[in-house]
Amino acid sequence: MTTPVRPINLFEYERLANQHLSQMALDYYASGAWDEITLRDNRAAFERYKLRPRMLVDVSQRDLSTTILGQSLQLPILIAPMAFQCLAHPDGEIATAKAAAKMGTAMVLSTLATKSIEEVASVGNQTPQWFQLYVHRDRALTRALVERAYAAGFQALCLTVDAPLLGKRERDTRNQFVLPSGMELANLATLTDLEISYKPGESGLFAYFLEQLNPALTWKDLEWVQSLSPLPLVVKGILRGDNALRAVEHGAKAVIVSNHGGRQLDGAIATIDALSEVVAAVGDTAEVLVDGGIRRGTDVLKALALGAKAVLLGRPVLWGLAVGGEAGVGHVLELLRDELDLAIALSGCAKLQDIDSSLVLRL
Ligand SMILES: Cc1cc2nc3c(=O)[nH]c(=O)nc-3n(C[C@H](O)[C@H](O)[C@H](O)COP(=O)(O)O)c2cc1C
Repeated sequence: MTTPVRPINLFEYERLANQHLSQMALDYYASGAWDEITLRDNRAAFERYKLRPRMLVDVSQRDLSTTILGQSLQLPILIAPMAFQCLAHPDGEIATAKAAAKMGTAMVLSTLATKSIEEVASVGNQTPQWFQLYVHRDRALTRALVERAYAAGFQALCLTVDAPLLGKRERDTRNQFVLPSGMELANLATLTDLEISYKPGESGLFAYFLEQLNPALTWKDLEWVQSLSPLPLVVKGILRGDNALRAVEHGAKAVIVSNHGGRQLDGAIATIDALSEVVAAVGDTAEVLVDGGIRRGTDVLKALALGAKAVLLGRPVLWGLAVGGEAGVGHVLELLRDELDLAIALSGCAKLQDIDSSLVLRL
């Protein structure tokens, strides 16, 4: 008999998680769009960046804490917004929020969460929580979501701009992805009874986006989104310097360099490759965060060296959740934090402010 071994890195969490998930959930979490080129390249791109460590620096005392939007975090690793977390574990987003709070970092709650804004807010309020917004065709519904997030104590509004329509994830199409009965979009309760007219052979989520989300959204709508609450605006899904600048001109306080984990436009540039241009474009007018393919402490270090203030972690959080609920998510965050701590020490940095662009070279 083999003794179950506690995973020692995020890849081992992935393998273990796959044993805990239904085929439909596994495919929904893992998939990228079309040929999954961007999904793979988000990972492969990190290998093209080489570290140039400094030696003989006193790194006996180290500090990973930072501030984003003026909010204090114990580590520069936030939890990316991800839909349908109850597919991984019955506690879903509640478990994720608790783990984030214990680790002293921020969770971004998806519009498409399976736990309510208010429930999540009530467990995680020792650390900041952000709310991710999809702008629906129904403006009153969109307004209500933002007002609820603000009232519940969320501290930033993260507007996702890379999904006017849902990218085609062929595994979901094949599975005709739908939520299992009894699981619902907890913040869109009024919509759960809606007849979504999806065609047989289609992903239910694709049909939802087509019907409910507003594909006509443009830059000028950013003012409207900001008028809904005093929350600082974070724009997620930027891959170009000119777009980043435009987001800032329209009021964004931070931008997230993201290709939605390779789930939207296949062939889009790997996020780590897009980062430098965005950082150069916005300068110190806004904070830049990045997500996509972060699996090792050295990936976080490379992102920070290229100018990101912090990173967001996506799928590994779902793997932790599937394996062990709150404790699993907490352990995934701990593993990555400890790897980052070691990586910065080995690079001759004692704190995040010591990390600069001279530490990294693209070959
Ligand atoms: C299962 C899943 C669901 C997601 N749902 C959302 C979402 O609701 N809103 C959003 O802005 N991004 C969503 N994303 C994208 C993530 O926020 C993030 O950009 C991406 O997962 C980061 O890449 P990584 O998974 O390689 O770490 C989702 C990603 C996954 C894997």
